[in-house]
Amino acid sequence: MVVRRILVALSLLAVPLAPASAQEIPRHAAPAEADIDALLARMTTAEKVGQLVQRMGGRQRALNSRLGPEELDKVRRGEVGSYLHVAGAEPLGALQRVAVEESRLGIPLLFAMDVVHGYRTIFPVPLAMAASWDPDAAESAARIAAVEASAAGLHWTFAPMVDVARDPRWGRIVEGAGEDAFLGSAFAAAQVRGFQGAGLSAADTIMAGTKHFGAYGAAEGGRDYADADISERTLREAYLPPFEAAAHAGTASYMTAFNALGGVPTTGNAALLRGVLRDEWGWNGLMVSDWRSIDELMAHGVAAGRAEAARLALEAGVDMDMVSEVYAEELPALAEVDPALMARLDEAVRRVLAVKRDLGLFADPYKYHDSAREDAAMLTPEHRAEARRLAERAIVLLKNEGGVLPLARNAGRIALIGALADDARSQLGSWKAQGLEEDVIDLRAALTSAHSNVVHVREGIEAAVAAARAADVAILALGEDFDRTGEARSFADIALPQAQKDLLAAVAATGTPLVVVLTGGRPLAVPEVAGQADAVLLTWLLGVEAGPAIVRTLLGEANPAGRLPATFPRASGAVPFAYDQLPSGRPASEDLASDTVRWRDQPTTPLWAFGHGLSYTTFDYGPLTLDRAGIAADGGAVTVSVPVTNTGTRAGDEVVQLYIRDPVASVSRPVVQLRGFRRVAFAPGETRVVSFTLSAAHFALWGSHGGWEIEPGAIELMVGGASDAIRARATLTIEGRAAAWRSPASLPVASADAP
Ligand code: BGC
Repeated sequence: MVVRRILVALSLLAVPLAPASAQEIPRHAAPAEADIDALLARMTTAEKVGQLVQRMGGRQRALNSRLGPEELDKVRRGEVGSYLHVAGAEPLGALQRVAVEESRLGIPLLFAMDVVHGYRTIFPVPLAMAASWDPDAAESAARIAAVEASAAGLHWTFAPMVDVARDPRWGRIVEGAGEDAFLGSAFAAAQVRGFQGAGLSAADTIMAGTKHFGAYGAAEGGRDYADADISERTLREAYLPPFEAAAHAGTASYMTAFNALGGVPTTGNAALLRGVLRDEWGWNGLMVSDWRSIDELMAHGVAAGRAEAARLALEAGVDMDMVSEVYAEELPALAEVDPALMARLDEAVRRVLAVKRDLGLFADPYKYHDSAREDAAMLTPEHRAEARRLAERAIVLLKNEGGVLPLARNAGRIALIGALADDARSQLGSWKAQGLEEDVIDLRAALTSAHSNVVHVREGIEAAVAAARAADVAILALGEDFDRTGEARSFADIALPQAQKDLLAAVAATGTPLVVVLTGGRPLAVPEVAGQADAVLLTWLLGVEAGPAIVRTLLGEANPAGRLPATFPRASGAVPFAYDQLPSGRPASEDLASDTVRWRDQPTTPLWAFGHGLSYTTFDYGPLTLDRAGIAADGGAVTVSVPVTNTGTRAGDEVVQLYIRDPVASVSRPVVQLRGFRRVAFAPGETRVVSFTLSAAHFALWGSHGGWEIEPGAIELMVGGASDAIRARATLTIEGRAAAWRSPASLPVASADAP
């Protein structure tokens, strides 16, 4: 410790105090790669390490961007590269001025925050956005978030979270796009495009921070932070594709995960961080640790002390240390005596400087600090309107028996029951950034302003039953509030609490037509709801415009078309239970006398399947046709088309889903796997031909020898409105064999629709 302090002190003494000379890098000119090297050559070891240090601007998740004198001295000494959980054009501008004008090298700071589903205008939580099956919608939300966040002085968001989540017990399922790699890839890429816009150097874009690389969502038992122990094939096919899609979309940064993969904590996992990400994918951006995850390498039992943790993380490819101060305290001494480690340190510093350059911070460090722009950017009427449009797109109609929905305008008396109906805070979700509860229009507020005869009962079965009896229709708000999902919010039991079950049973017993509005950020095991409600509307956590979006949907002014991005199980004990299972040697049969792959105490089917979602109108599918019967493994492509008709009397969207199956391959393949989707708007009676163009690479599998392979043989193609509602099929033949270079799920599929 003492030795380290002396070394640090010596290195500080070695700093020449004179201002930059004429030959040195001009402070405010965007340096090219060569200039970054020149800047690096002028840096002391302590200054280099400083660039890798990310510190908290305030208490965790609270914002206090006016830092005290000691903190400012650190900035002056070049000991900080970035702050997180900060905000505000003016205070951050003042802080930037200290870095740029009062530190020896004048290197600007990076300001970061978790801007996940909105900054001030809060949009639906990411799982809900994925239920829109409309990546453009997610791109739009991210774009607006970036416009607002960049106006508030921010350069960097820790989003998108692209962790595939196949276990709804995991609380962080709310932050991602659900259980499927293909759907997740489309949403990952869309959000990166939204945050980073036309390019990092534009003043209204922020750097995406794709997280948490690479199988955080596979935590055993759905317990947050637990080890993921999965096969290489599952890692490659089910978990990594969205990360790969984000790399192709140009994400400028990634974050590691807290957990270990097969016993190797991600934050010290060179095979993953260097091998896959940098060597295989050729990605060269900035890698940040998760919150104190370098320090946690000790708790994981792979580092005996902080020095070992620092070395492990840097060697594995972690450039920036979020909050743990392990790099700050340990790296100077370690690197000074180890040229190989110094080379790693230089590499990491170069990456930090490169993103600062790409953001345009060397050219103009103050371009994110315009208070007038900040005032004008927040929660504009246009942003609110978009929040409502996207919230409507995310709503999923799970059940609608007897056409209870939509409600007639003259629906009579409505009993609105449940505390979630006016829980405005919950609609902001778990990452609310600068979202305010008072900005939220909740269900109760929206319903009472749209309909004159509404009685709201928050608690108590007796009062609820009385209200339902006296009403023409009962709307019961059930599910989970915002605090049941998110980080460290894993639950072994994802059924409704008993009090909600009792309330449901009592209200249902009144015989009044019953609509359940289901709130929450995860799939729930709710067979009682499916059984007892006449209609079920899944409304997630929808952001500032939750209420108006739900009410417009209840009244039929918006026609729901969201689809489940994750399977709803029948029981907590039935998870994980994702849709794309491998076939078994003993396929499920309900014949109890036979031994098959099933549960004996309940049906071996989901409550609501992946891709499920109803509409107020109906759709018919014609035959599926291919433009050719076979394609070459080496470079072939096929266009698959299906006519779809709106057979009802209302306009509405259908999410046309394309699934594939490889019935005979060198390894067992999923019984059904998503490989294309398109959300299409239809007028009543309208027919449109929806087509998808796939290349042979879309049918690749992770082969037994470790690599993407396209194998010869038949591929079954299936289209329909859900994974369990296939409406048309066709068969394609792949001729020959070839290698592929990218995970098929991460590869976009071109789609179109035409009259
Ligand atoms: C979370 C990250 C987040 C970080 C900073 C961590 O606890 O795992 O997702 O970006 O905190 O807030």
